[in-house]
Amino acid sequence: MSGDRRAPVRVGLLGFGTIGTGVAKVLERSADVIGERLGHPLRLVRIADLDTTRDRGIDVSGIRFDSDGGALVADPEVDIVVELIGGTDVARRFVLQAIANGKHVVTANKALLAAHGREVFDAAERKGVDVAFEASVGGGIPILRALREGLAANRILSLHGIINGTTNYILCEMERTGAAFETVLARAQSLGYAELDPSFDIDGIDAAHKLTLLASMAFGAELTSKEVPAEGIRGITPTEFESAGEFGYRIKLLGIAKWRPSESGERIEARVHPTLVPATSLLAKVDGAMNAIAVHGDAVGPTLFYGAGAGEMPTASAVVADLMEIAREIRRGRAGRVAPLSYLPEALRPKPLVPLGEIEARAYLRFTALDRPGVLAKITKLLGDDGIGIESVIQKGRGRGGESVPVVMLTDIAREESIRRALQGIDSLAEVTAPTCLIRIEEDL
Ligand code: HSE
Repeated sequence: MSGDRRAPVRVGLLGFGTIGTGVAKVLERSADVIGERLGHPLRLVRIADLDTTRDRGIDVSGIRFDSDGGALVADPEVDIVVELIGGTDVARRFVLQAIANGKHVVTANKALLAAHGREVFDAAERKGVDVAFEASVGGGIPILRALREGLAANRILSLHGIINGTTNYILCEMERTGAAFETVLARAQSLGYAELDPSFDIDGIDAAHKLTLLASMAFGAELTSKEVPAEGIRGITPTEFESAGEFGYRIKLLGIAKWRPSESGERIEARVHPTLVPATSLLAKVDGAMNAIAVHGDAVGPTLFYGAGAGEMPTASAVVADLMEIAREIRRGRAGRVAPLSYLPEALRPKPLVPLGEIEARAYLRFTALDRPGVLAKITKLLGDDGIGIESVIQKGRGRGGESVPVVMLTDIAREESIRRALQGIDSLAEVTAPTCLIRIEEDL
């Protein structure tokens, strides 16, 4: 690269889909403000995508555009490679090749980093280049930069995130319309809010990838998404919204991570699951496809980061901010101003996760039981035998003609393994006609 401090820093884009198009638009539309902030231009010089014919509504004249990703990551005219291919196979290969060729990398690929982060970060450190990934969690919300820098003085005590917009949209629509999950999912797919294969989102896998990165960064933990238990929203029925509302809660798919020190050592909680949150909490007010992450630091106290978690321009906003940070480092002649996961690589440690069975929380239970005298007594006895206290009970309607009815309970604080043990007995009762739905409750948000 030229030693001229005003010479452009040159960007190569791998993947020219929705986000790639947004990156090209932001680089063009905001060229003046970017130039005023950096002191030099950020120039998109090369694009690779398998589809080279579709009109993206962008003028690509003057930009080399072909389908050769391998050539892009080796191109001496490219200083920073932006990986927006997605997936963990081709993307991993190109990212590692780009690093091996001495390129800095910006990626939005949480699946790649949640599975292969260690390999990618180690390769980048050996080569003295940067890997930045702000767009991988919370879209346009600068949550990773906040954890790495703005909150760096804090011991992070907990974080609670609505980090998947698709599921937040579906849950809000189910609550608003009273419709069943399948109906709302089909509508979300037709409106483009959910993928045709929606399992990554609705089974909590996408949120688990993002939580893996957040928890690694918050606690200095070496963690992969395989270790993070994830439960999605398929089992939530309209009864849950009605009952949660009556108890003063809303239902959110949360990624939760907590620091759990003890005399025997430091452990962390990391889990993704539908959660009852107090209707008065700020997270409960996050509607539609928006994202929000509540972070509690020991010095700062509670903080909340809110914004668009996906979409062309919000995600491009985060990608271009990463490009600008790296461009500054290129000008300083030194990469790695802040370690990718905030902790120095040698300070990262494998930190054991608290098993779900050890988690202590209040729980929402929805039983499906025949409407007969004595059934509730049998259920409460089995809960009582495992030391689980009951705080409230609602039976939804009457089961005429031997039909089952939903019976909804909130428990006192209980250990999850005790609840699971009691549910085994309850679900084997002849009068209980379907598996019980358990939703954990989080109060301190
Ligand atoms: N599919 C994600 C979501 C957006 O629904 O939030 C990309 O991370």
